[in-house]
Amino acid sequence: MDIGALKLIYFSPTQTTKKVLEGIAQGFQASTVEHVDLTPHDSSMREIVEMHDELAIIGSPVYIGRLPADTISRLRRIKGNDTPAAVVVVYGNREYEDALLELRDLALEAGFKPVAAGAFIGEHSLSTSAMPIAAGRPDAEDLIKAKEFGKMIREKIKAMQPSDETLPLQVPGGFPYREPPPLPKVSPVTQETACTKCKKCASVCPTGAITIEDMVVTDQSVCIRCCACVKNCPTGARTMEDSRILHKAEQLFMNCRKRKEPETYL
Ligand SMILES: Cc1cc2nc3c(=O)[nH]c(=O)nc-3n(C[C@H](O)[C@H](O)[C@H](O)COP(=O)(O)O)c2cc1C
Ligand code: SF4
Ligand code: SF4
Repeated sequence: MDIGALKLIYFSPTQTTKKVLEGIAQGFQASTVEHVDLTPHDSSMREIVEMHDELAIIGSPVYIGRLPADTISRLRRIKGNDTPAAVVVVYGNREYEDALLELRDLALEAGFKPVAAGAFIGEHSLSTSAMPIAAGRPDAEDLIKAKEFGKMIREKIKAMQPSDETLPLQVPGGFPYREPPPLPKVSPVTQETACTKCKKCASVCPTGAITIEDMVVTDQSVCIRCCACVKNCPTGARTMEDSRILHKAEQLFMNCRKRKEPETYL
C-alpha cells in the first residue's frame, strides 16, 4: 500500500503530544500533513471528520494511567472508515498503565485499523523549575526516536496489501481498564497583582474553564488540571497552589527521576 497523506489527530493541552506526533510525521515523509487538533474548547462543536486513503496518527496524553475524558469524547467525532492508524500516548515519565490499550480500542471503535503504537514521554503537566519532572521532553533524543518510528510505520504500510486482514495490534495494558482514583476538584489560581488580563490562559484552556472580566475566574467543575494555563501565562501569575497537588508533584519529582524511553509496537 502506498499512502502519502497524513492526518495528525490529537488532544494536547500542553503540546507535548503534538510535538511527538510532528516528529513521527517527519520520519513518515508524507506528501501532505493535516492537523486535526481536538484541543481547543470549541473543537468539540466542530463537524465530524471523515478519513479517506490516508494514515492517521492519533495522540493523547495519559491522565492517571488512562485517557482524559476529553480525548475520548472528542475522538468519537472522527470516522475512521478502515483507515490505518498509529496510536500514540504521551506520559510524564511515571507510567502509562492502560492508556495505550484504551487508545487502541478507541481507534478500533472509531473505525480505524491500528497498525502501530507508541508510548512516548513528555514534560509532566505538574513540572516546574523548582520541581522538574521530565522537563523539556520530548527532547532531541525523543524526537529522533519519533522520526525513526515514523520511518518504520512507512515501511510497514508499504508492505501491506489493502486486502490484508490483520488481528488487532497487541499493546501493553489490561482490560477491564483500571479505575482511576477520583480527582479532588481543584484548579490553578491567579495572583491578581501579577496578572495583566492578557487572556492567554483563557485562550489555551481546553475546557473553557476560564473567564476574564474584572478578574480571572476559574470554573473548577470543568477544570481538568492540564496546566496549559500555568505553562502559558507570560507573567507567572497562574500557579497550582493546592497542597494535595503540590504534594503529588513532590512525590513525582522524587520518584520518577529515572529516565524512561519511548516504546513502540508494530
Ligand atoms: C490530571 C493529569 C494526570 C496525569 N497522569 C499521568 C500519569 O498517570 N502518568 C504519567 O506519567 N503522567 C501523567 N500526567 C502527565 C501527562 O501525561 C504529561 O504531562 C503529558 O506530556 C501531557 O501531554 P500534553 O502536553 O499533550 O498535554 C498527568 C497529567 C495530568 C494533568
Ligand atoms: S495568562 Fe496570566 S497574565 Fe494573562 S490573563 Fe491569564 S493569568 Fe493573567
Ligand atoms: S483552568 Fe484547568 S482546564 Fe483550563 S487550562 Fe487551566 S488547568 Fe487546564
